[in-house]
Amino acid sequence: MTTNQNNEIYNPPKEIVENANVQEYEKLYQYSIEHREEFWAEQAEQLEWYKKWDKVLDDSQAPFYKWFVGAQTNIIHNAIDRHLKTATRNKLALLWEGEDGEVRPYTYHALNREVSQFANILKSMGVKKGDIVTIYMPQIPELIFAMLACAKIGAAHSVVYGGFSSDALLERIQDAKSRVIITADGGYRRGKATRLKEIVNKAIEMCSVAEVVITVKRTGEEVHMQNDRDYWYHDLKALPVANAKCETEVMNSDDMLFLLYTSGSTGKPKGLVHTHGGYSVYTSTTHRMVFDIKPEDRFWCAADPGWITGHSYIVYGPLINGATIFSYEGAPNHPYPDRWWKMVEKYGINILYTSPTAIRGLMRYGESWVERHDISSLRLLGSVGEPINPEAWKWYHRVVGKEKCPIMDTWWQTETGGFMITPLPITPLKPGSATKPFFGNEIAVVDDDGNEVAAGEEGNLVIKSPWPGMTCCINKDKERFYETYWKRFEKQGWYSAGDAARKDKDGYFWIIGRTDDVIKVSGYRLGTAEIESALVSHPLVSEAAAIALPHELKGNAIHAFVILKHGVEGSKELGTELKDHVAKVMGPIAKPEAVNFVDGLPKTRSGKIMRRVLKARALGEDEGDLSTLEE
Ligand code: WT7
Repeated sequence: MTTNQNNEIYNPPKEIVENANVQEYEKLYQYSIEHREEFWAEQAEQLEWYKKWDKVLDDSQAPFYKWFVGAQTNIIHNAIDRHLKTATRNKLALLWEGEDGEVRPYTYHALNREVSQFANILKSMGVKKGDIVTIYMPQIPELIFAMLACAKIGAAHSVVYGGFSSDALLERIQDAKSRVIITADGGYRRGKATRLKEIVNKAIEMCSVAEVVITVKRTGEEVHMQNDRDYWYHDLKALPVANAKCETEVMNSDDMLFLLYTSGSTGKPKGLVHTHGGYSVYTSTTHRMVFDIKPEDRFWCAADPGWITGHSYIVYGPLINGATIFSYEGAPNHPYPDRWWKMVEKYGINILYTSPTAIRGLMRYGESWVERHDISSLRLLGSVGEPINPEAWKWYHRVVGKEKCPIMDTWWQTETGGFMITPLPITPLKPGSATKPFFGNEIAVVDDDGNEVAAGEEGNLVIKSPWPGMTCCINKDKERFYETYWKRFEKQGWYSAGDAARKDKDGYFWIIGRTDDVIKVSGYRLGTAEIESALVSHPLVSEAAAIALPHELKGNAIHAFVILKHGVEGSKELGTELKDHVAKVMGPIAKPEAVNFVDGLPKTRSGKIMRRVLKARALGEDEGDLSTLEE
C-alpha cells in the first residue's frame, strides 16, 4: 500500500491539547537530545528502584548499550507491587471479555494474587531465575498472569503466538531450551475452539528439552495428558504450594525480562532479548506520553499479547502506569461486525490501539455497524504494524473517532521495545505519516552511504542514538545482532531499521515498508526465507521464491514462485496443496495468496534470488539495474 505525501493537516481538538500530559514537543525534544541521559534519568525517577543506577548509559561496548547500569529492580515491582500500597490497589487492572461473552475483572490486588499463585506454581516445578519458560496460549487472562509470574521470579518468558504451527513452536522451544511450557487446551476464535494443547503435544513429541507442560482449561475440549509431564493449571492452583504470597526477585537492570522471536532475512527466527530496567522506563514513558493515560482511562490495545505490541502496551507499559487495561479474546466480527463497538460502548473504552489491517477489515462492513453504538467515550486512537493508507486513516478518524480523536500512528519494531516515531496528542497530524521522533531519538533517512537525502526523497531509515527500550541482543548470538542491525552503517554507529522512508519538509516521517527480505502481511512479520524453506520442504518442490505484493486488506500478500521437481506438472490442485503446506509448516498467517509455477528464477551470478526483479515484473514496473542478473 503506498503512502501519499500530502499536506492535509488535522489539528488536535482544543480540549485534548489543554489536558495533554505533554504540553510542548519542540523544546522538550531539543532538551532530550542535548541531555539524553538527564532526560531518561528524570523519567526513570518516576519509577521505584531497589537500588538506583550508578550510570544512566554505558556506551563503552556500543552497540551493546547498557541502560541504568548498577541499578536493581524488577518490572513487577513497578507493574504490581508498588500499586498495592496506594489506592490503585482497588482499581481494575484487567477487564477481560471472552469471545463467548464471559467477563472476568481483576483489580490490582486480585492481579497480584493470581500472579503470585502462578509464580509459586512455577517455582514448585523447579523454575528458577535465568530459566526461559515458553508460553503458547490463547488470549486469556492466564496468558498475562503467566508472563508476569515468570518476571516476578526472575525467569524470562518466551511467548509464542498462538497462531504458529507445531514446527515453529518446536524451533522456538529448542532455541530457548525451555524445560517448562505453559499452554491451554484452546481458545475461541469465530465461535470455534482452537486446539492448542494438541499442537504443543505434537511439537514436544520428539523434543528432549521440554519436561513439564502446564495447561489452563479454557474450552473444556478433550485433550491428551501424559503422566509425569502434563499438569492441569487448576489442579496445581488448588495445592498448598500455590499460595498467594511470593517475594519478587531482585534483578539487575540488564537482566533478561523476555525473549521474543521475530523474523529476519535468514530462515532462523531471531530471539530478541529485552531487559528489566530500560524496558520498564521506555514502555511506561511512551505509554504515558503518547496515549496520554489518565487515572480514569480504560485503555484497549487490541493486539495479541504474543507480539511485542502486546508485551509493551497490553501488559508492561499500562500496568506500570497503573492503568486499567481491557482485553478481548476473539475475532472482531464475531458474532457480528459490531463486536468491537459493542464492547467500546459497554466498557466505556477511552483509548483504542489497533492495526491498519483491522481497520480496513472493519471498514469493509460499512459504517452502520459502528453507528449502532454510542462510542463517544473514545478520546484517542492508535495504529501500528504497517503504514496506514490515508483512506483507512480518514475512515478511522471520521467514523470511529467522530473527528475528535487524534490518531497516534506509532512506528516501532520488536527490536525497539516501544514507540520510536510517533505523534503526541498535541501533534498536528498528516494522514499516513507517523509524524516525528519520540523524545531522545535522533532518526534520519539516508542513502546507502549514510548521507541524509533531500526532503521528500526515499532512503533508509536509521536511528542514530541509543534509547532505553532497545533490545540488548539476539539470544546467544552477538555476531548476528551486529550483522543484522549495525554493520550496514558501522562507520557511523547507527541502527539500521530495515525500512524505507521519506522525511518531508516539515520533518514528518513517512514509512514506505521493508527494504530487507521481511514481508508484513496484515501487520505480521514473516521472513521470505522461512516461507521459501517451507515450500521447498514439500517433496515436489525444487526451488522457491516468495515476494510481497500489495493487497487491499492485508497491506501485503505473499506470492510464491515455484520450480517443481523434474517431470512434475503444475496444476491448480498442486497450487492449493502448496499453500496449505506452508500454512501447516509455519502457521495460517503465512499461507501464500498465490503460487505461480515457473521454469526459472531471476538470480545474481552468485546465485541469490533477485526478489526485487520478480516483484517489478509482477507489478509491470521497471526492473531497475539488471547488471548482476544471470537468468
Ligand atoms: C516493522 C516492525 C512494533 C509493533 C508491531 C510490529 C512496520 C510498524 C509501523 C507504522 C509503518 C510500521 C515497519 C517495521 N511498522 N509500525 N506505524 N507505520 N510501518 O513490530 O513485527 O517487529 O515489525 O513493522 O516495517 O520495521 P514488528
